[in-house]
Amino acid sequence: MAQLWGGRFTKATDQMVYDFNASISFDKKLFAKDIEGSKVHVKMLSKVSVISEAERDAILSGLDSIYEDVAAGKLSITSEYEDVHSFVEANLIDRIGDPGKKLHTGRSRNDQVALDMRLYTRDAVEETCKDLKSLLKTILNIMEENIDTVMPGFTHMQKAQPITLAHHMGAYFEMFKRDVLRLDDIRARMNYCPLGSGALAGTTYPLDREMTAELLGFYGPTLNSMDGVSDRDYLIEFLSALSIIQMHLSRFSEEIITWNSNEYGFIDIDDGFSTGSSIMPQKKNPDIAELVRGKTGRVYGALTSLLTTMKGIPLAYNKDMQEDKEVAFDAIETVQHCIVLFDGMLSTIKFNKEVMADSAKNGFTNATDAADYLVGKGIPFRDAHSIIGSLVLYCIDKGCAIDDLSIDELKAISPAFDQDIYDAISMSTCINKRLTIGAPGKEAMISEINACKEFLK
Ligand code: ARG
Repeated sequence: MAQLWGGRFTKATDQMVYDFNASISFDKKLFAKDIEGSKVHVKMLSKVSVISEAERDAILSGLDSIYEDVAAGKLSITSEYEDVHSFVEANLIDRIGDPGKKLHTGRSRNDQVALDMRLYTRDAVEETCKDLKSLLKTILNIMEENIDTVMPGFTHMQKAQPITLAHHMGAYFEMFKRDVLRLDDIRARMNYCPLGSGALAGTTYPLDREMTAELLGFYGPTLNSMDGVSDRDYLIEFLSALSIIQMHLSRFSEEIITWNSNEYGFIDIDDGFSTGSSIMPQKKNPDIAELVRGKTGRVYGALTSLLTTMKGIPLAYNKDMQEDKEVAFDAIETVQHCIVLFDGMLSTIKFNKEVMADSAKNGFTNATDAADYLVGKGIPFRDAHSIIGSLVLYCIDKGCAIDDLSIDELKAISPAFDQDIYDAISMSTCINKRLTIGAPGKEAMISEINACKEFLK
């Protein structure tokens, strides 16, 4: 048991208490950030003459040597220490002696951990953004290649109107684009430095908080020391953004699973991203998509967990807040893995364009356009809707599409039909007449794709 405290105790900590209290098994993830924060802290302490330049230099080289030894695997972070902060300080004192005992001057583990976690989260926000941008690029590639790939668009899981694969993918582009923008917002809002908040009430040393904030790449110091040590809003915001990303991935996975089903046959997932069955030799399962969908639960769980942990915590620091780490680390890792795996799966999927086009053609997806055709011939929309309704019923009976009916059959239902109906309800007309902003028509789609490219620049 290596602890940073003990002077006012007359008895050793019970081992069970020690283990329950310790966080080193998971906060060792913060090791690099702890060193980074400590180095900046001592640079500032020497600048404001709280420690000498010689002490500063001794501490800096001690911290560097600890960092290097851990990175090289020569020193391991073990449960002999209560947390990562104790590990670093104890090793520093071991290595450089007395100057090491000055590292913690004007600092508490409360502002230290608040800083470490913020630095770690800031990196994770940036990495997640990068992963998302790579996924967006994959989606954009599919869009560019499939401006003319016809497929049915669905509402209520029923074929509704024809769209293109580019249009369908474009919807996901918008979703993940918003995710990137959300992360940008979070990064901007969280980028203030809590170091120097002390335990809760600042310190009596003349700390230069502007300096430490700047050296660590923050916009400035946090403005209230009690908030500085007890704010985890930024992490909750990030977990919330991660939950939304995961929700988007999960919806997309659900579609991939459906499209890959024997019944749909819209796509083939690449062998490299599928798995087999131990008993059924014919099976090729979409396990990656299912796991991405399944892991959504634990990401939502992390958000709910931290929200609940924080809801009853009075100001300022309380040990409850140590519970922010495991759930956050898990959610960050999970979402990053899911984005990367999903990206790999998506970029290797084969789209069965003929099956998709046939499906659009054989599901009355042009019924709205047939009604619009009659409107063009002077029939009020409500009447046209009803005429096409009976036409569909007739086709269902006959087992054919509207386009398969002869002009005589059509005229028997409404004399307003003419030879030009066939062109008016062809898949390509249905799609390419839809040219409002955001619609699947070719010209509208090209503008949308240009906007996507602009975003990724
Ligand atoms: N392991 C602690 C945490 O994660 C570090 C801060 C400890 N502070 C304290 N006053 N006991 O929150």
